Amino acid sequence: MRSNSSTGGQPSPEKRCLLSRNPTNCFLHTRNVAARSNVTFWCWDLTDRQDIKASANGSSTADSISVLLQMFLQYLSTALFSLATIRSVYGASAPKRRATCAGGQTVQNAACCAWFPVLEDILPNMFDNECGDDAHGALRLSFHDAIGFSPSKGGGGADGSIIVFNSTELTYPANNGLDDPINTEVPFIQAHGVTPGDFIQFAAAVSLSLCAGAPRVGFMMGRPMPVAPAPGPDGLVPEPFDSVESILARMADAGGFTATDVVALLASHSVAGADDVDPTIPGTPFDSTPELFDTQIFIEVQLRGTKFPGRDPGQGEVMSGVAGEMRLQSDHLLARDSASNCAWQSFAGNQAGMQSAFAKAFNKMAIIGHNPANLIDCSDVIPGAPPLPANAGPHLPAGQTMNDIEQACAASPFPTFTAQPGPATTVPAIPQA
Ligand code: HEM
Repeated sequence: MRSNSSTGGQPSPEKRCLLSRNPTNCFLHTRNVAARSNVTFWCWDLTDRQDIKASANGSSTADSISVLLQMFLQYLSTALFSLATIRSVYGASAPKRRATCAGGQTVQNAACCAWFPVLEDILPNMFDNECGDDAHGALRLSFHDAIGFSPSKGGGGADGSIIVFNSTELTYPANNGLDDPINTEVPFIQAHGVTPGDFIQFAAAVSLSLCAGAPRVGFMMGRPMPVAPAPGPDGLVPEPFDSVESILARMADAGGFTATDVVALLASHSVAGADDVDPTIPGTPFDSTPELFDTQIFIEVQLRGTKFPGRDPGQGEVMSGVAGEMRLQSDHLLARDSASNCAWQSFAGNQAGMQSAFAKAFNKMAIIGHNPANLIDCSDVIPGAPPLPANAGPHLPAGQTMNDIEQACAASPFPTFTAQPGPATTVPAIPQA
C-alpha cells in the first residue's frame, strides 16, 4: 500500500505506508537515523482513533500478525543498530570525537545532529517559545508514556505507545486530557520522521528549557517503535486519588524510584495545572507561578487548605490554600505522609537541590523500558532554561503567614518564608492553547 507523506507529494520509492486507514496519519520512521537511510512509514490513525491494524481493503488477522512481526523485526534491527553504534562511538578503545552538524553545532554523536531541525521547529511552532499550556502538556505526556511499564504486568515504558496505541491508552481514565498534547505533537513527529517514543521525551526535555528555573535535563535517542499498548485500564498511571502507599509502590515498580525521586518528579507540578479534574475550570494552576519551574509548589501545597477553586471539586481534589489554585489530593498527602514529607519539605526554597534531584529522576524516567546501552546520548541538543527572574525568590503568597504552614516533617522545621506584599493572592487560570 502506498501513501502520500505528511510532507506532501508522491511518496519516494523507499517509503512504504503500512496499513493506514488514513494516509495523512502516516509518519516517517527512520530505521537508521545516523545514515538517514532505509526509511519506512509506520501508520496509525488519530482522526478516528484506530490503532495500527488491518485496513479497510480486505486485510486479515494474518495482516496484523505480519505487521506485528515486521514491527518486532524493526525493533530488533533498531536495537542491534543502536548497540553497534554505541559500541563504535562509546567503546573503550574508540577515541572521543565531536561531530559538527550542518548548522555549526557540535555534538558528541553525529546522529544527534538530526534533532537540531526538530528543536528549531518545535520551539516556535509547537511551544510558541513559552512555558505555557503546550509545554506543560508535553511534560505530562512524557510521564504518562514512560510510566506505562511494569516488570510483572508488561508495557514498553517510554516507547511512544501512548501515541501509536492512542485508541487504547486514551481510554484509560488516568490519561484523560492527553489527546491535546498528542494532537499537538503528531504533526511534528510526522514532519521530522522520528519515533514517537523519542519525540515525546525530546519534546518534554525541550519544554523544560522554556520554563525559567528548570534544570537542563538529558535526552537519549533510539527508542524503537512500540509493539503494544501499555497495560490498563487501571493501575500503571498514578491517579490523584491514589494513596501515598500505592503511588510510591507503583513508582518503585516502574523504575525503582525512591520516595525522594517521586517528590522530586513532582516539581513538574510547579509548571502545571488541571483541565479535567474540575472540567468547569480548565487551566487551573497547581501553584501561583505556573510559568516558572520554582519551588512554590512545595511551599503552597504545605499551606492549610481553605477553599476549592471551582464549585464542584473533582475526584482527587482537596482544598487549596490560595484562591484560584487547585490542589491534588496526591500532592497534599505526599507533602504530609511520613514516607515523603521530609523529602517534600527539603525542596521548599531549595531551587538547586530541587533542580538536581528532578533532573536525575527525570532522566531515569525518560528511559523506562529501555537499556541505556542501546540509546545514543544526545543531551547536547537540549538547551538550558533561563534562571529564575531576580524577583522570583521563594515566598508565601500574599496574605499568608508561617502559621498557615502545616508542619509535617518530624525531623526539622519547615523553612521560613515571608509573604509577598499586597492583598491576598488570587491565581489566574493558565491561558489555554
Ligand atoms: C505521581 C503522581 C502523579 C499524579 C497523581 C499526577 C496527577 C496529575 C493530574 C490529575 C493532573 C491534571 C490533569 C488535568 O486534569 O488536566 C496533572 C497535571 C500535570 N502533571 Fe501530574 N501527576 C503525577 C506525576 C507527574 C509527573 C511525574 C510529571 C512529570 C514529570 C507530571 C507532570 C504534570 C504536568 C506538567 C501537568 C500539567 C499538564 C497541563 O497543564 O496540561 N505529573 N498531574
